[in-house]
Amino acid sequence: MKVIEAIERRRETGRFQSKALPEETVQLLAHVLQLAPTGNNALSREFILVRDSTRLQTLAETTPYMAWLREAALGVVIVANPMVSKYWLQDATLAGGFLWLAAVEQGLGMAWGAVYHSEDAVESARREGHARQVLHIPSEQRVVAILGIGYPAVEPAPKKLHPRSAVIHFESFSRPAPA
Ligand SMILES: Cc1cc2nc3c(=O)[nH]c(=O)nc-3n(C[C@H](O)[C@H](O)[C@H](O)COP(=O)(O)O)c2cc1C
Repeated sequence: MKVIEAIERRRETGRFQSKALPEETVQLLAHVLQLAPTGNNALSREFILVRDSTRLQTLAETTPYMAWLREAALGVVIVANPMVSKYWLQDATLAGGFLWLAAVEQGLGMAWGAVYHSEDAVESARREGHARQVLHIPSEQRVVAILGIGYPAVEPAPKKLHPRSAVIHFESFSRPAPA
């Protein structure tokens, strides 16, 4: 599959079949995460791959918005260390994007669960604290996101796009004059 096709086919998958991933697929996804770039090539983010079903059930309680993790064959927890790089959040997010496309290319679906909350420190600490406790994540690591991967149980509808003119600007930030 070409990268453009993976980009065009990618949707969030919220329901998964109860089917394990082959070991080579898990290793390939780990390879993709290792290849994702970071600012200054710093080791600013790390990934915890979780296949244990009991652990996934507990981890799904990190926020109310990741029920799909209970069905996922693989959970990928992205942690990042702000002491290592000021680009920690961008590094962590970019790796998740790479992973999403690779999952599509492998015939898999993925869902994204935001954990780190940039505007509510108390809520972020609560969410991160839960994942931290379940997975023994050290305090210097921020818990950015938890991703769920598996074989999709439903075929997603084509994506309804925001109009191109609302998204893309050429040369300078510009909006059409209101009618
Ligand atoms: C930064 C970010 C945070 C997200 N957080 C969640 C989340 O907590 N739970 C969830 O079910 N989906 C989450 N999503 C998925 C988005 O809601 C979804 O990607 C968006 O509606 C666009 O749909 P699409 O992925 O099918 O194109 C998140 C996506 C991104 C990029």
